[in-house]
Amino acid sequence: MIFKKSDIPGEDIKRFMGMPAERRKRIDETPADPIPETYAVNELAKTLHPGYIKAEVKKKTEVAPDRFTISFRSCSENGRFPFFRAGQYVTVSSNVGGSFATRPYSITSSPFEALGGLLEITVHKSGFFSDFLADSFKEGDIVFVGEPSGDFYHDDLRDRGHVLAIAGGTGVTPFISMMKAVREGSEDFRITVLYGVKFRKEMLFDPSVFESERIKIIPVLSDEYVEGYAHGFIGPDLIKPHVTEETNIFVCGPEALYEYASEALNELKIDSSRIRSEHNVCRDLPGEPVFYKLKVHMRDTVYDIDSRSTETLLVAMERAGIKAPSKCRSGICGFCHSRVISGEYLLAPDRTDSRRLADIKFEYIHPCCTFPLSDMEIDVPPLDLG
Ligand code: FES
Repeated sequence: MIFKKSDIPGEDIKRFMGMPAERRKRIDETPADPIPETYAVNELAKTLHPGYIKAEVKKKTEVAPDRFTISFRSCSENGRFPFFRAGQYVTVSSNVGGSFATRPYSITSSPFEALGGLLEITVHKSGFFSDFLADSFKEGDIVFVGEPSGDFYHDDLRDRGHVLAIAGGTGVTPFISMMKAVREGSEDFRITVLYGVKFRKEMLFDPSVFESERIKIIPVLSDEYVEGYAHGFIGPDLIKPHVTEETNIFVCGPEALYEYASEALNELKIDSSRIRSEHNVCRDLPGEPVFYKLKVHMRDTVYDIDSRSTETLLVAMERAGIKAPSKCRSGICGFCHSRVISGEYLLAPDRTDSRRLADIKFEYIHPCCTFPLSDMEIDVPPLDLG
């Protein structure tokens, strides 16, 4: 009932007295249908943001020496993975020995394939978790796959119509998804990929599979001469011919590539607003570790574990088998947001502090890129795997 204040004295009181009757009338008119358990909008939200999805390993293929493409089949009720933007990543979580580990991997399959229940990542054997995936993962194994995340994708509102992708090694993985998306029509832009590897045998795909009017691939070999392939590093001479007013530049690869590419782009005076780069995960610090005690509060449970000055608080928790939340592992997504109760700590030296002022004031940290400098006590949110 819309109640509009009356100018006539006493009129409002009179109407107010009549309200119980009006209310009763409306209640009587209301159908006795039970309140629905869910609404269409909740179902849509669940489809787009399902949290963690149980997935089965469908196939593992060695696409280049020590580089494996792993396909997952969704075990969710609707048999799908959520639609995503080509260039995004997912996390893969699994028990490894006594640890519970999670790592982010760029998706290499296409957005439409996700709706058909297929999701692919490509891993390079170069660390504890990727070694585990490459060596021990087999068909039928079950893992938890986090929902697609990250902002390393082309957005029509923000980006221009041509993407120049500068990729190094397995940093080409988000661009594989982008090329598939362009090919299938779920993305509408042109893409040129400068793809740097040491040797041709390290390439994850044959460029001719993707080449089309909208997709161009220029392989660049740094340690081998092959006819028809560019040689050297991806510098200004290789970048310049592919940059027009219509171009945005996306960079993904090892740390060295970022430095090299950023020097080249500076030299070409390309405005930083046109350059986007994927963030690398936070690595261990060099040097001899100092050992500390770490007390972790997680809801009603308290864990007393060891930590090392050279590894992040997140790695310490995972090594101890604690299911700690993480996604990007680079201090960007905020998913691991935790509170320091006591102790000294150091933010990863190669990161800028992306925390909000309130977080800094009330001692909230991102354990994925924070190292202990003393014994510490922290409060960490539990991981809900659904
Ligand atoms: S996992 Fe993304 S900020 Fe820590």
